[in-house]
Amino acid sequence: MRIMAVACLSFLLPVAMSPAPAAEGPDANPTLARLAGVVRAVMADPRRRAAAIEAGRLRATFCFACHGEDGNSRRPHVPKLAGQNPVYLLDQIERFASGRRRTTYMQALASHFTEEDKINLVVYFASQPLRPAGGDPRLAEAGERIYRQRCIGCHGPDGRGSRGYARLAGQQPRYLEKTLRDFQTEGGRRDSPVMQAMVRDLGAGDIRALAAFLAGLR
Ligand code: HEC
Ligand code: HEC
Repeated sequence: MRIMAVACLSFLLPVAMSPAPAAEGPDANPTLARLAGVVRAVMADPRRRAAAIEAGRLRATFCFACHGEDGNSRRPHVPKLAGQNPVYLLDQIERFASGRRRTTYMQALASHFTEEDKINLVVYFASQPLRPAGGDPRLAEAGERIYRQRCIGCHGPDGRGSRGYARLAGQQPRYLEKTLRDFQTEGGRRDSPVMQAMVRDLGAGDIRALAAFLAGLR
């Protein structure tokens, strides 16, 4: 029964999604769209933004051990949160909380945040200056070629993200490699049909090159 329902859905999906593929991204569901609206309003208002940064800093103490005090993780497998797109961060916290993105520790953590916590935390980290991780310059040229062909539509010409899409510029290269491999696995730890389609056919060398190029961007 379940299998049949899934088969029917995947058959209908291209038709249903053709005008506006909003199954992922900032408009994916009403809760995320509403919270994203609040975050954009807070970011645009200097007084509310300063208050959120202050409250976020207090709430984030616990995160510093892994993500770095200013969101610039120095651990290769832990993503930098500094300068990240706040709507993307919010989307990920929602995905951890709902179990759509699977990683034991972050899932347990995210399910305890109130809405206010989420807003303050993402505004705090998004407002910290990013220190780019840096990547192997010998691989960057090959990575740039692939990036220009297939990634700029959502992640932007300079890798700084757009709307609800992630900033990739300056991210930890090992984390990027691991993440791209996660996306290649259907039903894996990150369930994203959009990203799976983007990276399905990439080889290990392509993934290393993409990560090296992106990590070196500012
Ligand atoms: C014990 C280490 C640890 C702590 C503490 C921790 N995190 Fe994480 N976090 C991780 C790891 C590892 C990942 C990457 C998971 C993966 O590979 O999918 C991650 C991923 C994330 C992401 C997704 C980022 C992206 O680029 O997709 C967000 C958002 C996040 N953490 C927020 C937080 C916040 C907010 C706190 C504190 C309340 C926190 N984390 C505390 C280890 C930690
Ligand atoms: C059609 C839009 C689209 C295109 C084109 C696209 N992406 Fe994405 N990307 C997404 C979405 C949506 C997510 C969030 C998926 C999730 O949360 O699991 C994402 C997430 C990511 C992440 C995770 C960031 C993090 O901090 O964990 C990486 C890395 C990434 N994309 C790399 C790429 C690369 C490399 C390409 C080109 C080969 C690409 N993307 C092309 C939509 C796109």
